[in-house]
Amino acid sequence: MLQNIDLRAFNTLGVATKAAYFADVTSIEELQRALEFCRERNHLPIVLGGGSNVVFTDDIDGVLIRMVLRGIDCTLSGNDRLVQVAAGENWHELVCYCLAQGWYGLENLISIPGSVGAAPIQNIGAYGVELSRVLESVTGWDCDQQVLHSLSAAECQLRYRDSVFKNELKDRFIITSVTLRLSSEACPDVTYPALRAELADPDTATPEQVAEKVAAIRAEKLPDYRSEPNSGSFFKNPLISAEKANELLLQYPALAHWPMPDGQVKLAAAWLVDQAGWKGRREGGVGIHPRQAIVLVNYDGVSGNDIIQFAAQIQADVMANYGVSLEIEPRVY
Ligand code: EPU
Repeated sequence: MLQNIDLRAFNTLGVATKAAYFADVTSIEELQRALEFCRERNHLPIVLGGGSNVVFTDDIDGVLIRMVLRGIDCTLSGNDRLVQVAAGENWHELVCYCLAQGWYGLENLISIPGSVGAAPIQNIGAYGVELSRVLESVTGWDCDQQVLHSLSAAECQLRYRDSVFKNELKDRFIITSVTLRLSSEACPDVTYPALRAELADPDTATPEQVAEKVAAIRAEKLPDYRSEPNSGSFFKNPLISAEKANELLLQYPALAHWPMPDGQVKLAAAWLVDQAGWKGRREGGVGIHPRQAIVLVNYDGVSGNDIIQFAAQIQADVMANYGVSLEIEPRVY
């Protein structure tokens, strides 16, 4: 167990707070030992993957557990490939590895920062595909029952940027591995308009071509956290009722939106932030990226509290202009 560790290198927003205790966990046994340490001291552990979806607003008095378990196993099930991946594997590297093996289904999710264990928590999604499309099951440590337990995809209750791990099982279930159902048959999804528009012939595109295009679009639009510290989308795309959406669309016909299967309508947070005048705007060391209005950048190593205060001004403006509540996507500690 390390002590008094600077967390700047462990969060992609580059916020410099400290953890009183810090453990890299490479196996279930190490996880159990770290949790035992927490119990003895009455600390609730904070569990971290790649640190690409967190804002640290304060020093952590207790224990930060970083999940770095590795390993990928594949079993055949007809044309399907059941791929069990340890929580500490890097998501983007997994996508590239699966593509190279001819295990298809992840191509639209290339270049997403973060770890595999974090993927189900917010049901990562991009360019028309969400993790829910390929998730088979999730295994993890149930801190209440003190057992390793597997949940089926249905039990994970994946919804837009949401899951059981953000709700009933929040701070109770530590994901140790994720099993994906991939296919040996190529069946790329090219429905997302921004992707379709970039492909020469979308309907004959191979998974490799789709992956290459998605990676190129992301590289152009989204800043690299290594040079411009950020946590991807800082706001969730808000879900509102069809009635409210119709009212807004009468006033703002250009408002980017997507109807959802349950009748709600998803609005583009980027559009709302952009139209409210925040795109490219900086205050002190924090700002909104000039090429993607949903991304907040920590240009000058500001604190998590400064970031939250900056975001609060944007939330207030969007509420005042459009009557829409913008929710922060990363978890705030
Ligand atoms: N738009 C603007 N201004 C901007 C950017 C976009 O008005 O500066 C409008 C455009 O009309 C565009 C629409 O917003 O059509 C949507 O933009 P985009 O396709 O870039 O996607 P997004 O809704 O902003 C979501 C995900 C991203 C994911 C992309 C692509 C969320 C919170 N974000 O962003 O995920 O890569 O779609 O599928 O759902 C992430 O979660 O960290 C992330 C980057």
